Amino acid sequence: MVDGDGTKVWIGGRIVEAEDAKISVFDHGLLYGDGVFEGMRVYGRAVFRLEDHLRRFEIGARVLGIPLAGGREAIRAIVLETARAYGGDEAYIRLILTRGRGALGVDPTTCENPQTICIVTRIHLYPEDKIARGIDLVTSSLRRPAPDAVDPGVKSLNYLNSVLAKREARLRGADEALILNARGCIAEASVANVFVCRDGVLMTPPPSEGGLPGITRASVLEIGAALGMETRECALGRMDLFSADEVFLTGSGARIVPVASLDGAPLGDPITGGRPITERILKAFAEFVLDHGTPIG
Ligand SMILES: Cc1ncc(COP(=O)(O)O)c(C=O)c1O
Repeated sequence: MVDGDGTKVWIGGRIVEAEDAKISVFDHGLLYGDGVFEGMRVYGRAVFRLEDHLRRFEIGARVLGIPLAGGREAIRAIVLETARAYGGDEAYIRLILTRGRGALGVDPTTCENPQTICIVTRIHLYPEDKIARGIDLVTSSLRRPAPDAVDPGVKSLNYLNSVLAKREARLRGADEALILNARGCIAEASVANVFVCRDGVLMTPPPSEGGLPGITRASVLEIGAALGMETRECALGRMDLFSADEVFLTGSGARIVPVASLDGAPLGDPITGGRPITERILKAFAEFVLDHGTPIG
């Protein structure tokens, strides 16, 4: 986001320009990461899988015990109104719910007015040439927290684990972090799910391995099955990436991004070097998103 790029923000009950979107320094979303969020995409003037995102948002809010003012109807209206104000065929939407202003100290009962914020803008997670060539991953030294610490299934505003994993990856000259769980199995990347294709089988870890149940992930599993591929949700280790024919990441921000290397070693079939399955899925995904959107009107 840069000022004046057309970014629109719904905050405090109205839509404003980015530079006018302000929040209290006493908001517990800022002070303690106390809140939830969603990242969504607009394709062809329609919000991709809006209801799935709203459901996950609602469940996250329920887990944290933050009421959604006006319920799902009101949130849906905010998202669509802000997307309309932004305009354009494609956009990225960041929907945020914070606990609101409260006293210093983590006690959430001091917060009375949860804040709903919706940002509509553009997002570029990786450089275009990297997306075409494939991004470079490194295995993070940080593990995903166990569900009985901070449940990775809740898309909360507390993203320090992902931020530090990403920082480490960038310091080590890579694009993205591969994050393992406490058992050494793959959880996910910093803000994306991991897929492996081997012998025509499409595999991804189940959410119980510590990754977010991604909506792009679910879509890719659906697309793979529709293309006649065998799909499997199973525990995966680093070894599965080294032995894969193809590896890619999925996410609303990332979309579908091929992975070229892990910890400096090239991934993929050394004989063909191609990515026929990722390409088929990418092509099908481009049509799929246009069939699964809520028009912004
Ligand atoms: C930690 C994490 N994992 C996975 C994903 C991918 O989820 P989705 O496809 O629903 O965007 C995200 C999305 O931002 C994420 O933050």
